Amino acid sequence: MRLGVNIDHVATVRNARGSSWPDPLRAALLAEAAGADGITAHLREDRRHIRDEDIETLMAGIGIPLNFEMAATAEMQAIALRHKPHAVCLVPEKREERTTEGGLDVAGDEARLADFIAPLREAGARVSMFIGHDPAQIEASHRIGAAVVELHTGHYCELVADRSPDAAAELAALREGAAFAHSLGLEVHAGHGISYDTVAEIAEFPQVMELNIGHFLIAESIFRGLGPAIEEMRRRMDAARA
Ligand code: PXP
Repeated sequence: MRLGVNIDHVATVRNARGSSWPDPLRAALLAEAAGADGITAHLREDRRHIRDEDIETLMAGIGIPLNFEMAATAEMQAIALRHKPHAVCLVPEKREERTTEGGLDVAGDEARLADFIAPLREAGARVSMFIGHDPAQIEASHRIGAAVVELHTGHYCELVADRSPDAAAELAALREGAAFAHSLGLEVHAGHGISYDTVAEIAEFPQVMELNIGHFLIAESIFRGLGPAIEEMRRRMDAARA
């Protein structure tokens, strides 16, 4: 199981003061040294964290694959085709949201998304759909030719944080979604909102090949440093899977 470290919020802190630090590339290189298997960065329409030049710098500087998260817009497609990252993860994006809320509606936008991902696939990117565990979304992702689905774990992680009795049902639905996606031949990833408290339950799903984790790791790095924060996540993931 691979760990993708999302460095968006290193850029958020940098942008807060308009300075050049903390440097997202330095964070990515530290993540790589700490055992990350990939770096994830989301170039949002409003550039609130990662900026265009960060994508260039990251692609040139890191020795592990870049997972480029983006909305399914013509602007982002052109950027992805220019940089040809290892992976492209399509996410829904609303300008007013604080973070990616909910998954992509692949089933409701199937024909457009099939056309949208075709050139990305031809350019060699592993295309991933960031979706909820709804079987209709998983089937649609399979039909349009995505290689990967990333299951949105944000709702589950919120339920755990709220100590909600609904957390167990949400976890079960994610587990079924992972098994169903795998049965269709999709590679299964998971991410959003994962912390030390929730990583084990998700890492236990045998079909999950990659976890993408950002905000918690950057937050935790304030206290223990980025390398140790990532190493501890890795240890918990691997222990859960074992
Ligand atoms: N996966 C996807 C598709 C995302 O959009 C995000 C957030 O940008 C993450 C994973 C990481 O979420 P978090 O920062 O909450 O760990």
